[in-house]
Amino acid sequence: KRAQESSDYEQMERATKFFAHQLRHHANSKRVIDYLKGRGLSGDIVKQFQIGYAPDGWDGVLNALGSDQRSKQQLVDLKLVNQNEQGRYYDFFRDRVMFPIRDRRGRVVGFGGRVLEGDGPKYLNSPETRIFHKGRELYGFYEARQANRELEQVVIVEGYMDVVALAQAGISYAVASLGTATTTDQLQMLFRATRKVVCCYDGDRAGRDAAWRALENALPLLNDGIELSFLFLPDGEDPDTLVRKEGAEAFTQRLQKAQSFTDYFFAHLTETIDVQSDAGKSLLLKQAKPLIERIASDFYRETLMERLARLLRRETSQLEAQIKAPARTKP
Ligand code: GTP
Ligand code: MN
Ligand code: MN
Ligand code: MN
Ligand code: MN
Repeated sequence: KRAQESSDYEQMERATKFFAHQLRHHANSKRVIDYLKGRGLSGDIVKQFQIGYAPDGWDGVLNALGSDQRSKQQLVDLKLVNQNEQGRYYDFFRDRVMFPIRDRRGRVVGFGGRVLEGDGPKYLNSPETRIFHKGRELYGFYEARQANRELEQVVIVEGYMDVVALAQAGISYAVASLGTATTTDQLQMLFRATRKVVCCYDGDRAGRDAAWRALENALPLLNDGIELSFLFLPDGEDPDTLVRKEGAEAFTQRLQKAQSFTDYFFAHLTETIDVQSDAGKSLLLKQAKPLIERIASDFYRETLMERLARLLRRETSQLEAQIKAPARTKP
């Protein structure tokens, strides 16, 4: 099993090199490089993230990396190659810009592939494999650790392009969760490397929903000394478009003014509740209680209880009887 794993990582590394080589040497090279330039990326940043190109044929990866039956099967297992009903093999990623996803230790475990323009889903991500578990990886985390001796803070964004565009602008501490919600596993991985995390999702409905889900998933990790905040972007912007429009200076200023976890918690809950009425107060208590009870740190839990008490016009002691600390799990 060990041997298979290390052979898997080697194959993924070969695929990364293959895609990077295609970016420079494929007949479509100019079109792809123009696309990347058009998105504001320099050659250096493309190299740093080892961005590549999956050719538009059906057998680029297959021919380059699938010399025998065993390696063909491995490519299928790694989801770089598909097999149709007739048993024929063909490339999974075709005519796409390729973003290699590295694990914490720098090994490529999957890819994100973006269409240049035109048909098909905008992004195609590697499906889960025996070495790729989406909820446990963060795009750009390895690169961020390489670029910074100490990670003072980490910014979580939605997309590959957001990570790369921020790095290009000099903000080399952004990571992207792969898929919809940022998971507790991903947040835990970050809080092992830094004390301060800023969630910065797109300025749209999906981005705002992602922020609240990240908050919920972060509750069991909120220990003393940890700082979680939320930066909401103007409508229609994402970190990529905004940093290109405003520059790195303005973006870091926005980061500094990000909304604290506590402020966002109550701002969100009271958005649709009238806390002046008894009905609203009881609803707020009902919604806030189970969330507060999941917070790890006594200090943060008490801080939220105090704020809640003020909103409900109750004494904090009246709430303390109702809101319990979470059951102690392994530290
Ligand atoms: P760009 O247009 O390249 O700037 O992409 P984006 O990252 O801004 O895209 P968007 O905000 O629409 O989506 C955010 C993230 O969701 C992407 O980076 C992808 O990880 C994922 N995503 C977007 N579109 C798709 C899709 O069609 N399929 C899948 N599986 N994921 C997608
Ligand atoms: Mn996805
Ligand atoms: Mn979006
Ligand atoms: Mn976006
Ligand atoms: Mn974008």
